[in-house]
Amino acid sequence: MLYFVRPTDDFSILNHPWQDEMQAGHVLTAPLLIFAVAAIWKRHAWQRIRSGFQARRMTGIALAISFFPMAASAYLLQVSSDEGWREIWKFTHLATSVAWILLFLVHLTRPRTQSAK
Ligand code: HEM
Ligand code: HEM
Repeated sequence: MLYFVRPTDDFSILNHPWQDEMQAGHVLTAPLLIFAVAAIWKRHAWQRIRSGFQARRMTGIALAISFFPMAASAYLLQVSSDEGWREIWKFTHLATSVAWILLFLVHLTRPRTQSAK
């Protein structure tokens, strides 16, 4: 809505009537992903990174690393008022979150076992 939708009403400050609700929904629900990642962090991710487990390794490591700038930039965007910093955090959040979703899809579709690689 922010980037691809144009308002039909020339005087509207919203590109789409649901824009505010979507933003509130994102801010309220996106942190649940932190709980989800925390829940699988030790046994699923960290243990496999340390043991050298090969299946889904590259995408798994990339998911684990990119999660931190994705979550941090979201909070930094909300607490920054300087326009220059807001642009930096916004760009970081958009780039890392789009990358995270794509990596996640690839991670889910790679072979599951070590022998299959
Ligand atoms: C998983 C993929 C995610 C996508 C695709 C995504 C997408 C977006 C987009 C498009 C924006 C608006 C940026 C702008 O103003 O131009 C945004 C803002 C934001 N996101 Fe995310 N995000 C993701 C993950 C997260 C996570 C994990 C968190 C929190 C832990 C989070 C929290 C926030 C917050 C707090 C804002 C700022 C809202 C505001 O004050 O405008 N996002 N996100
Ligand atoms: C924070 C980072 C990670 C996230 C969010 C994540 C997420 C997931 C999810 C949702 C699945 C699907 C579960 C299923 O099919 O039942 C999965 C499967 C899998 N992941 Fe990850 N993963 C991460 C890191 C890693 C790492 C670092 C490795 C390996 C070094 C790895 C290897 C695998 C393998 C082999 C599977 C196949 C099913 C299984 O053995 O559990 N993942 N991952």
